[in-house]
Parts: sequence; structure tokens; C-alpha cells
Amino acid sequence: MVVPQRQGEANPTQMGVEEKVRKTLAELGVNDSPGVESLFAELRKAAKEERAQLIARGAANQPQRERLCKALRDRWLARKGGFLSQVDEKWLKPAGKDLKPVVGRQFNELRRFVTDLEFEKLLEALPLQQEASPQTELVLNAVGTARPAPRDITLPGLRRPLGSLHPVIRMQREIEEIFLRLGFWIESGPEIESTYYNFDALNIPESHPSRDDWDTFYIDSKTVLRTHTSPVQIRAMEKYGAPLYIIIPGKCYRHDNPDSTHSPMFHQIEGLAIDQDITFADLKGTLDFFAKMLFGEKVRTRFQPSFFPFTEPSGEVAVSCFVCGGQGCRVCKESGWIELMGCGMVHPQVLRNGGIDPDKHCGWAFGLGVDRFAMVKHDINDIQLFFQGDVRFLEQFR
Ligand code: FA5
Repeated sequence: MVVPQRQGEANPTQMGVEEKVRKTLAELGVNDSPGVESLFAELRKAAKEERAQLIARGAANQPQRERLCKALRDRWLARKGGFLSQVDEKWLKPAGKDLKPVVGRQFNELRRFVTDLEFEKLLEALPLQQEASPQTELVLNAVGTARPAPRDITLPGLRRPLGSLHPVIRMQREIEEIFLRLGFWIESGPEIESTYYNFDALNIPESHPSRDDWDTFYIDSKTVLRTHTSPVQIRAMEKYGAPLYIIIPGKCYRHDNPDSTHSPMFHQIEGLAIDQDITFADLKGTLDFFAKMLFGEKVRTRFQPSFFPFTEPSGEVAVSCFVCGGQGCRVCKESGWIELMGCGMVHPQVLRNGGIDPDKHCGWAFGLGVDRFAMVKHDINDIQLFFQGDVRFLEQFR
């Protein structure tokens, strides 16, 4: 009976004996006596033919003759890996109760048959010829004893595939470079964060919707996967005090359903500048410079009012579309503007929570989504592509 083949499986009718003896009868789709008998008949035929072929082709000299005979013998009779021992392992031992008697009988018959072929005595039977024919080399190859072919030094060398930076990390590095040139340094913080740093210290009250289970991954009631990089603002204030000029790149997590612009894991870069007499004009100037460095001299920045509990006043920054110059195109969704980030002047209570006196120091902060930046830059319409690990996609960004 022929068992239907699953897609991608090798067809047993196209397999050589080497391959068949490595599979079980079930894998070969053989489940009745006629099937078993025809499988063993095929093996007997192969053994006989291989012996006859070797004799017909001969050997070039005595050492080759010995090699050939030993190789053919080992191929069938070696205790470890010989065809007979593989048939024992793969066909006989795992055979079910109903097939075992016929497989056993056939196995004994095969063993007798191969023994009768007297591979040992081939040594005398194998004629010596002046030059081994090309066919003999083929047989040698088949039984794995061929002399190594002379090395062809004109062939191209083997190239090791080189990896490259992920496009999101590349984008992150580009942004970091700009701020490093402005005198900021890079700070980091834990991805598993306390609710104090992630919410309370940032003025985000218990009742805020972002603290809901549906928005945040809770580890326990007091520990979350950080939902933004802003908690590192507080950690850095506590650690260094003022003045402070830092950027904070890193992974963030939100209970967002994956879609073309949302991923449960994504990357942000936070910026924080704290000093004396810092104003909103400093924030505008810095972010305008940053946008021009990243997208080109011609881009314009637009600041709109917004709300974040940890900045007051808060704003949202957009740049004129660097593809169409603000005329409207696919990249800016015909609006002429591309939303970039949230920002604002650090709330006095947040400074206090970080141990900084708001009467002496003030500052600004921003937070941007690196993945979204990379999407805009490379005109990618689905954020999921970044995290599916498809090399065909990733290797375009070398
Ligand atoms: C914040 O996270 C604020 N902490 C930013 C901030 C910092 C404001 C400092 C003021 C001062 P928001 O929730 O808007 O803000 O997220 C910032 C950016 O993260 C978004 O503009 C977006 O680019 C990115 N982002 C948010 N959620 C996702 C998500 N699920 N997948 C991909 N990117 C996301």
C-alpha cells in the first residue's frame, strides 16, 4: 500500500538504497508483506549489481584493488554503518508485530545473499588494468574511497557571509552620534522597572490609563517592563544631580497589539538636559538642529502643544516631510509633516523627585520612537518587518 506523501518529503521511489536504509519502514510508507519483499529484493539487486560493476571496471593497481574491495565490503557488511546493520536497526528492530516475521525472514535471506557474493574474494576476481577508467573513479566515489581530486586553485574562494547592524540599531547609533557631538552622554537603565520609577516619580498617578494592565506588562503589582525610557531620567538625576545632559536609548514594552506601527517591544531614545536658566528656546533650538542633522538642512520643525504628566509645558514635534519638502506624499501621508516625538520642560515635581531643587535648576526632555524613525527614513510601511528575522528584508540595510 502506498501511503500519501506529505509536501516536502522525499519520494521513496526516487531514493537510492543509501537513503532507504536510513529510514524506517513507516517513513518509507511500507506497511505490508509485498512492500517489505520488494524492498529487500531491491537491496539484493543493488548488492549484486555493485559487485558486477566493480569487476567490470577493474582497478588500476594492487593498492587500489585492495581499497575498492574493502570499501564495497564495508559498505554492506560493516558492523557500524554497513547497510545490513542499518537494515537491522531501522527496519527489523522497529517493525510492528504483524510485519516482524516477514522482515526477519527477508533480513536473513539478504544476509545469506550478501555473504554468498563473497566480497572478500573479490580481491582475486578484480582484474588489474593499466589505467583505472573514469567509471572506476565514479565507483570509488560512490563507495567513498576516491583519491582526493587535485585542488583547483583557479576556483573562487569561499566567502563567509558577514552580518551587519540591525536597521533599528543603526538608526539609534545615528541619533546617538548627533547628541554625542552636542556634548550629551549616553545613560542606560533597567528594562524591568519598579512602578515608582516608571510611573510615580514621573507624576503619573494611580488613576492614569497607562498604568492599566491593558497597557503595561506587570511582573508583579510593583514591577513592570518599562513602558518608556523616562524612568531613567529620575535614576540619572539621583545618581549625578545637576547639571545633566544625557540621552537614554533602550527597549520599551507595552501591551499594544502588533500592527503596522505598534510592536509590544520597541525602542525609544530619551533626551534630558538640566542646568541653570534652561528655556523652551533651548529645547526648540536643539531639536531643530537635531532634525536638520538627521534629515537634511532644508527640513523645518513644528512644535504643537501636548500633554505629558512629567513635563510642563509639553509639546509634540513634527518635521516638514524630507521626501516631498512639505508638498504631501506617501511617506507623510499627504500631510506635509512627520510626527517625531514628545517633549517639554521637566515638571518641577519630577526634578524634586530626582533630588534636584527646581528653584535652582530647570531642564527639558524629549522621547522618540527609534523604530518609527527607521520606518520613516527607509519608507517601511510595517514595523513588524523589523522583528520577524527575515534575512531577505534585513540584508537590504547593509
Ligand atoms: C512617551 O513614551 C514619553 N515618555 C515621551 C516623552 C519623554 C515626552 C520626555 C516628554 C518628555 P509616547 O507614549 O508618545 O511618549 O511614546 C513616544 C514614542 O514611542 C511614540 O511617538 C512612538 O514613536 C513610540 N511608540 C510608542 N508605543 C509604541 C509601540 N507600541 N510600538 C512602536 N513604537 C511605539
